[in-house]
Amino acid sequence: MSKVALVTGGSRGIGAAISVALKNAGYTVAANYAGNDEAAAKFTAETGIKTYKWSVADYDACAAGIATVEAELGPVAVLVNNAGITRDAMFHKMTPGQWKEVMDTNLTGLFNMTHPVWTGMRDRKFGRVINISSINGQKGQAGQANYSAAKAGDLGFTKALAQEGARAGITVNAICPGYIGTEMVRAIDEKVLNERIIPQIPVGRLGEPEEIARCVVFLAADDAGFITGATISANGGQFFV
Ligand SMILES: NC(=O)c1ccc[n+]([C@@H]2O[C@H](COP(=O)([O-])OP(=O)(O)OC[C@H]3O[C@@H](n4cnc5c(N)ncnc54)[C@H](OP(=O)(O)O)[C@@H]3O)[C@@H](O)[C@H]2O)c1
Repeated sequence: MSKVALVTGGSRGIGAAISVALKNAGYTVAANYAGNDEAAAKFTAETGIKTYKWSVADYDACAAGIATVEAELGPVAVLVNNAGITRDAMFHKMTPGQWKEVMDTNLTGLFNMTHPVWTGMRDRKFGRVINISSINGQKGQAGQANYSAAKAGDLGFTKALAQEGARAGITVNAICPGYIGTEMVRAIDEKVLNERIIPQIPVGRLGEPEEIARCVVFLAADDAGFITGATISANGGQFFV
């Protein structure tokens, strides 16, 4: 039987590409999303991948949602924590609400999603947890104190949990995409994108969601078991750690 992969924010953007790549690699995929029913229904119609609606910011909703996925499809072997949001503002203008929303989704969301699957992965002696962080969690970004802090936190979470999971056959890794051409990035003013962001990317273009998806498929594989606690940067040469 094929392994079950659960992708948060898996119906749009990078997450949609990850869901499709995992399906093409032979996994049974569940794609979670937060609220865009129309996009989720279109994604399911186009790909045949089932979508499940809940917020990763809500622990109880995550536990219930994961229980539903496992009852319908089987135990989660691969968890991709991809869901993420931006609420950008220069720090002097940033509201507590903007800080909290980003923390709740982009950092606490990883706890909320990973905690309910962790015991099962330990019992089965196999698991893959793949966290989608960001270049801006590595280097920081003006206007994104909330996002950069949460994404840096994702890397600490990855490294700590990798140590806990190692003897139980669970690997925990992170991917730090640079600027990828999804709605999140296309929402940036075109002039800013063309004149300020793309010139900073040595390969001279935005990344493609599929380029991140390929990293996920690589880390999810059975024979990637010696890679854990790692961070893969996929950023077109924009930043080296
Ligand atoms: N795009 C980039 O250049 C870039 C660069 C570095 C890192 N990243 C990271 O990559 C990940 C995906 O980014 P993207 O650009 O593909 O984003 P996107 O196009 O805006 O899609 C975000 C996805 O996350 C879901 N989502 C948002 N909040 C959620 C919540 N509370 N619970 C469950 N799902 C939620 C959305 O669901 P709905 O469809 O229901 O709204 C959507 O499916 C994020 O973690 C982002 O920080 C992106």
